[in-house]
Amino acid sequence: FVPPVASGGGGAQLCGDLDGNPVTLESWVKGHKDNDRELVQGLKGEPYYLISTPDNIKDFALLSVCTHLGCVVPWSKAANKFCCPCHGSQYDENGKVVRGPAPLSLALAHTTTVKGNLALSPWTEQDFRTNVVDPDML
Ligand code: FES
Repeated sequence: FVPPVASGGGGAQLCGDLDGNPVTLESWVKGHKDNDRELVQGLKGEPYYLISTPDNIKDFALLSVCTHLGCVVPWSKAANKFCCPCHGSQYDENGKVVRGPAPLSLALAHTTTVKGNLALSPWTEQDFRTNVVDPDML
């Protein structure tokens, strides 16, 4: 049994694997370990990290696009950070920026499921990592 993740409101869009096919939460959980971070095609087809927990995923996903100049930011398990290869920005395990030049944390999305398939919906609330509301989302 895999408990459903919390719903993040309307506007949910199915996640896709590398080929764009839907991904079930059940298959995701089977194929990942606690604290794994891996990319899916998310909102607008952009690459988002889902974050695994022992039997689910976290209720937020992270856009993998660096807020400096837009490089895709790889997850470094050894450093427990996202480290941008372009100009050295770093983000903690929740995508909060901890080293510049990136000006902002990695963008958030809500994770949810639609008929068992993983989906994302836009994050319009305050950023829980910095307590800042993204002005573009208002
Ligand atoms: Fe990531 Fe410049 S694009 S640090």
